[in-house]
Amino acid sequence: KLYAKVKGRIMGKGRGPVVDAEYLKEIERARRDLRAVISSKQCAPIMLRLAWHDAGTYDKKTKTGGPNGSIRNEKELSHYANKGLKIAVDLCEEIKAKHPKITYADLYQLAGVVAVEVTGGPTIDFGPGRPDSLDSPEEGRLPDANGGAEHLRQVFYRMGLSDKDIVALSGGHTLGRAHRERSGFEGPWTKDPLKFDDSYFVELLKGESEGLLKLPSDKALVEDPVFRRYVELYAKDEEEFFKDYAESHKKLSELGVTPP
Ligand code: HEM
Repeated sequence: KLYAKVKGRIMGKGRGPVVDAEYLKEIERARRDLRAVISSKQCAPIMLRLAWHDAGTYDKKTKTGGPNGSIRNEKELSHYANKGLKIAVDLCEEIKAKHPKITYADLYQLAGVVAVEVTGGPTIDFGPGRPDSLDSPEEGRLPDANGGAEHLRQVFYRMGLSDKDIVALSGGHTLGRAHRERSGFEGPWTKDPLKFDDSYFVELLKGESEGLLKLPSDKALVEDPVFRRYVELYAKDEEEFFKDYAESHKKLSELGVTPP
């Protein structure tokens, strides 16, 4: 009966945590703690990256990977693409200790949603109920920054995502920066890497600019004509970007999780 009452706000019926009124309350408490930690430690970028890397391993054919908390597994955390993310896993562990009922899978996705919110981005609808897993996928499912449009499509289509999702979600690079010792790349994409806005797209269209980073995979978005149309739209209309971003982020955060 409760499932019916909160319809659309819960997932993973039967295999995830029991999403009852108490669980929903705990989510709200964790949300407040995450807001505090993310603002005081200025760790929104790495929290968003953690949520994305836990979810972005999804393979819709085999229904493996996805937002299931498996990134906390040492084996997966040590994948090359996840370098540096232990910082975010450890920060989430502090929240988990205070709210043990909440699954890691839900916690990491909640952290991603809160990271976007507290830096000025759109509100992203969050539905709890993801089951945890320690089954880590093989290395190599996340995109390679040296890849072009074809590679991006291969990786995101495997997740079941679209061209629009690829461009909107790449807007996540409005936050944070690359670290030479982690990825080999260096620097932020925008002038204010702690503010979630559409400046990533504005900078992409400007071309090279002193001190700002463009990965080969970022450049692919302006080189491919289909991707470019979205880049141009988002650069001139931040509201369109926020609307599409919130939709695509929600999709990413729920990959492979069946609604009740
Ligand atoms: C950082 C690649 C998509 C969010 C990075 C870094 C690389 C990268 C190489 C630098 C890591 C480091 O050195 O610390 C890619 C590629 C993508 C992609 C190839 C394919 C499209 C996304 C998506 C999101 C995202 C979809 C979120 C929606 C971030 C954030 C950072 C980051 C927030 C900054 C982390 C920090 O400041 O510590 N990405 N990324 N990325 N990525 Fe992506």
